[in-house]
Amino acid sequence: MNDRIEALRCIPLFQTLSDGDLAEIAGLLIDRKFPKGATIFEEGVSGDYMYVISSGQVKVTKMSDDGREKILEILADGDFFGEMALLDHEMRSASVKTTVDCVLQALSRQDFIALLRRNPDIAMELIRVLSARLRETDEQIRGLLFERVDGRTRRLLRRMARDDVPSQPEYLATPTMTHQQLADLVGTSRETITRVLKDLRDEGWLIQKGKKYLVPKD
Ligand code: CMP
Repeated sequence: MNDRIEALRCIPLFQTLSDGDLAEIAGLLIDRKFPKGATIFEEGVSGDYMYVISSGQVKVTKMSDDGREKILEILADGDFFGEMALLDHEMRSASVKTTVDCVLQALSRQDFIALLRRNPDIAMELIRVLSARLRETDEQIRGLLFERVDGRTRRLLRRMARDDVPSQPEYLATPTMTHQQLADLVGTSRETITRVLKDLRDEGWLIQKGKKYLVPKD
């Protein structure tokens, strides 16, 4: 149980809770494992659970009418998703699929709402994250309307690069992403992304290590 509480403490949404509250939440969360490529849920269905990512990575996507996928966001360890349908009683606003093997903690609507009512700090953290997501969506709209693909790619890589690189302290690394995933995030074709990444590498701004992208800290 102690390991479970320690693991929960690393999740930003729960970081302000006391040991007692964490123990109570640990009893409410349902451990769920999903392999790489699994669909957690599809856009447009009803939803009764929200999820916290214990380990792994998921993509939040929307489909165009002709079947093209736009990735809205990539979420990883400590992030949460699936809260919107629980809060506004609408259908799922997007699909969520795993990009690697994942361990998720599922929380039912009833337990989630009760938790928010009892813990204003959790509610505040949730509002902070939702505000950050809205801010990012506003930026994406601006980018799609007014920015060229190379500028959008640079901004996206900067935003996603959060991991320190011990061998190159002046750089930050993104999570692993294929060229197709990057193209779907930026809102362009895979061919264009491959060309833009080459230009950014030639310019000396970007270092590519397999499917990770290293960008300067400032
Ligand atoms: P819900 O609508 O229940 O199901 C889809 C989930 O994807 C949604 O809740 C959010 O948790 C998440 N989501 C939707 N849009 C975004 C976005 N722009 N950025 C990050 N996550 C999102």
